[in-house]
Amino acid sequence: MKDKGIKIVAIGGGSSYTPELIEGYIKRRAELPIREIWLVDIEEGKEKLDIVGNLAKRMVKAAGLDWEIHMTLDRREALKGADFVSTQFRVGLLDARIKDERIPLSHGVMGQETNGAGGIFKAFRTIPVILSIVEDMKELCPDAWLINFTNPAGMVTEAVMRYGKWDRVIGLCNVPIMSCKIAAGAIGASDKDLFFKFAGLNHFHWHRVWNKDGVEVTGDIIKNAYSTPEGMPTALNNYKKTHEPDEVEEGGSAIKNIPDIGLLAEQVQDLGLIPCSYHSYYYITDDMLKEELESFAKGETRAEVVKRTEADLFELYKDPGLSIKPPQLKKRGGAYYSDAACELVASIYNDKRTEMVVSTKNNGAISDLPDDVVVEVSSIITRSGPMPLSWGSFKPAARGMLQLMKNMELVTIEAAYTGSYAKALQAFTINPLVPSGRVARDILDELMVAHKMHLPQFADAIKKLGQ
Ligand code: G6P
Repeated sequence: MKDKGIKIVAIGGGSSYTPELIEGYIKRRAELPIREIWLVDIEEGKEKLDIVGNLAKRMVKAAGLDWEIHMTLDRREALKGADFVSTQFRVGLLDARIKDERIPLSHGVMGQETNGAGGIFKAFRTIPVILSIVEDMKELCPDAWLINFTNPAGMVTEAVMRYGKWDRVIGLCNVPIMSCKIAAGAIGASDKDLFFKFAGLNHFHWHRVWNKDGVEVTGDIIKNAYSTPEGMPTALNNYKKTHEPDEVEEGGSAIKNIPDIGLLAEQVQDLGLIPCSYHSYYYITDDMLKEELESFAKGETRAEVVKRTEADLFELYKDPGLSIKPPQLKKRGGAYYSDAACELVASIYNDKRTEMVVSTKNNGAISDLPDDVVVEVSSIITRSGPMPLSWGSFKPAARGMLQLMKNMELVTIEAAYTGSYAKALQAFTINPLVPSGRVARDILDELMVAHKMHLPQFADAIKKLGQ
């Protein structure tokens, strides 16, 4: 690929996040000799693809670059000879996410995009599609890297390795980047001056931090961030300390899609590790559920809010005078995701050996989990892919939840692949955010029927439900 220039394909190219991606590539123009970028979408996403694709063209032109931007509904045409394929699609679009969030909540149970029952169903819808993309890649671009941000990113990455038998895949997320900024803010430092080490699963990892002198400051961060009995609404406060005022939206939260409610001080202090923002769903389930139920009652679940934000964003993107990523994109939860994605591509292409947090095969990094499962860990990114840094073992409080969650992921992926209703019920039963028994079965059945058209593997089970 060095001589002919790089061919990049973005599947789900009509996503509102695409300007993030284009901006990230433009920033790295000196180290990435890009020849063409293909934005791929499906018929239902055509209008969005046209709008965002034209904005991408204007952005590239304004940057004085001659990169070709292609927009297509023909995935196979796009994949031919690709070097990097990134995936950022949402099967069933935002209406499917609304169902994932509202149906469990209508039973008084957590409804979230990547956690609990909703997250499991997002995996059920996405895994068959990612596996069909992998089959196309084997045929059309067997040397390409697959960079997956499609949620639930960890489970999707695991499915690609385990059932797609494709190892050139890396899962990516912006939460580790945000976590570094939030933690640095707690001790008034810049994240650039600290060393971070992460381990766990996607949306379920912990981290430790060291300063420039090699002294561990994890305890100081925890003390500052979780020092009151209620914990503090810390994430946003910490984030504010290291960000320009115009980057921080008043009344918002540091990670836009997660309510900023303080964790319990004693529990985090005893843990001795810094949890990620998604841990709130597991560590303070009662507060998070209360907040979600209030939003549900107002018709303001995150999915519904995002649907409105998206409509506004696409109105902006239509403006022929716009040739930059508009600041309003910051209202979405995926801030900094282009930095992660484009840096990953640059690191592989140039063998930069950058340290990044990615979803990749454990290979012994976390000794509490098997070698062949996907984990989200600090890794060195080389031309041959991520080399995970060793973390060692967790103490029982974290280890117990980690092992439960990893096994919940494995059962979910197996259900998604085989179409087994019993396995799906098993995944619900062991997920800490779903009550077991008849409530689980009612929610499962309702979600199966609601998502029927995107769950071909469960067709028999859905037929038995009388649908
Ligand atoms: C976070 C997560 C992403 C997720 C996003 C949702 O940043 O890391 O995995 O997609 O939030 O944001 P949204 O604006 O769609 O609620």
